[in-house]
Amino acid sequence: MLGLVPIALALSSPAKAQNAPDGVDWFKEFGVEQPRPDPVSGELPVKPYTVTDANAGATPFAGSDMARTFGGQDGIHRLAHRLVTLIITDPAIKDIFVATDTRRLERTLYEQVCYILNAGCTYTGREMREAHRQLGLKTHDMNALVEDLQRAMHERGIPFAAQNRLLAKLAPMKRDIVTR
Ligand code: HEM
Repeated sequence: MLGLVPIALALSSPAKAQNAPDGVDWFKEFGVEQPRPDPVSGELPVKPYTVTDANAGATPFAGSDMARTFGGQDGIHRLAHRLVTLIITDPAIKDIFVATDTRRLERTLYEQVCYILNAGCTYTGREMREAHRQLGLKTHDMNALVEDLQRAMHERGIPFAAQNRLLAKLAPMKRDIVTR
């Protein structure tokens, strides 16, 4: 039993594990190496996938009305930032995001909404089924996120009708996101 203690300590601190006196990198030995952030974007790597706008899970609106109503790319950036702030502090769902790379989440959410609103973006993130596969999400989690999005849109002064038009694009994604 006592023999397990050094391993447990090593697993709690990557720096210690790699500089251990015996020179053994226990993270590597156990196949649990800590991913390293990209030096430019600061994002953590994800498993390779095919990049396509189809991964966004909805087709874009026609014309520029919706993009303009959401304040163009700048407005959508602010909306994505506020949404991520709300969901990672929402007592109903914040625990789901403890291990999430929020930098990547905010960027890809921005791209997804920008693409759907036809505000001049391509979506480079994963498809919804793949991104949420491991999370075991419930309808209750979806409802909480939608409420946070409604709040973020309301704060940005997006008219109710436009809010609902975006929500109608997102609603069918539930079947790929909610698995329990
Ligand atoms: C229509 C609703 C939703 C949309 C549009 C959406 C969109 C996204 C996007 C764009 C990503 C990033 C994809 C990537 O990294 O390539 C993502 C990841 C994620 N989403 Fe959602 N999402 C939705 C619902 C939810 C809900 C309800 C939850 C939980 C309450 C959730 C939790 C997460 C988590 C934890 C990740 C990160 C997964 C990882 O790190 O591998 N999402 N989502």
